[in-house]
Amino acid sequence: MKVVVAVAGGIAAYKAASLVRELGRAGAEVRVVMTRAAQHFVGPATFAGLTGHPVVTSLWDHPGEVHVELGRWADAIVVAPATMDLMAKAAAGLGDDPVLATLSCARGPVFFAPAMHWRMWGRPATQRVVATLAADGAHLVGPERGALASGESGEGRMSEPEAIAAAVVAHLQGPRDLAGRTVVVSAGPTHEDLDPVRFLGNRSTGRMGFALAASAARRGARAILVSGPSALPTPPGVERIDVRSARAMQAAIGQHVGDADAVIMAAAVADYRPAEEAPSKIAKTAGPRTLELVRNPDILAELGAARSGAHPVLVGFALETEDAAARARAKLQRKRCDLVVANLAADGFGGEENLVTLVDAAGDHPLPRRSKAAVADAILDRVVALLGQSGPREG
Ligand code: C5P
Repeated sequence: MKVVVAVAGGIAAYKAASLVRELGRAGAEVRVVMTRAAQHFVGPATFAGLTGHPVVTSLWDHPGEVHVELGRWADAIVVAPATMDLMAKAAAGLGDDPVLATLSCARGPVFFAPAMHWRMWGRPATQRVVATLAADGAHLVGPERGALASGESGEGRMSEPEAIAAAVVAHLQGPRDLAGRTVVVSAGPTHEDLDPVRFLGNRSTGRMGFALAASAARRGARAILVSGPSALPTPPGVERIDVRSARAMQAAIGQHVGDADAVIMAAAVADYRPAEEAPSKIAKTAGPRTLELVRNPDILAELGAARSGAHPVLVGFALETEDAAARARAKLQRKRCDLVVANLAADGFGGEENLVTLVDAAGDHPLPRRSKAAVADAILDRVVALLGQSGPREG
């Protein structure tokens, strides 16, 4: 979580220091950018000390385009306090100070925490500005009703730093709707060894399964990732078990299925393995060679056959080169699972994005083409719904 705190010139600027600290406590990396007016209220040294990084106070003190770098770096930008003047300029698309220029390069969501006198907040021009910012996709946090700097009381007081930090963090982390649950995800290919140097494998990268494990962990689950050979880094908070073959994957999943509330089989498990694994490198001979293959266990089908009732929730994948949804429906029944994610090899294998249809007892639910992270979240939304239907775990 990388958050830019953008400080504009209002008395509430001193509370931005607490906001930086709260975001840090929640695990965010924070950088600060300030307007010139903000520096009349609080000095950059405070924020530099809190973040351990230089504060951006001008567009001219840095080599390169510091606003572009900050906008690209930030997962979210939060303007606190957001003054009337700064919001009006942002709504108009101006960019002649470091905060405005950084906002113009934002890659992620932007939050405004307004702070002003109640009369400024209530006037039609301010409300027009706020409506424009919201229509452009910005998030408003507050303001609250309460004591104002003028000694009066009214609507215009900046939300407390804890509340602003909580809104930003909740947005970035998404729902914690898998807290207390254990989700086992398989990912990647399997390698079925022929001899000490050769194997049968496939072109799965593991990206979809890694995205599922990352999303499950982010949503509060204990996420156990059983991965075939994959070069991908372990996502934060995920427990990873590396395996090679289908049988090793079956054993690793078997060890954890007793704790699992859901098992998601995103791995491209080899259906066959060599009948024999040679102890030393197989030498070439003249003429053709026939390889005898035997069936691997179907891990998902065995989990489906073994479970009693609807626990754990079982999710399979159907990667096909044609008729994906129809074949997924057949798989749903044959492997006795709750949900099958259908996709065509051309639409997802190896890439950053995926185009899938979710197939369950209620029917087919095609999703738009999206990043694998977004597809993972959509799959977990269904898992959460299925867990709700099956009720809490007994014992
Ligand atoms: O039958 P098919 O291989 O297309 O089924 C794909 C689904 O079944 C995937 O979820 C995959 O992880 C799982 N599977 C399995 N064990 C196998 C083969 C596939 O669990 N041996």
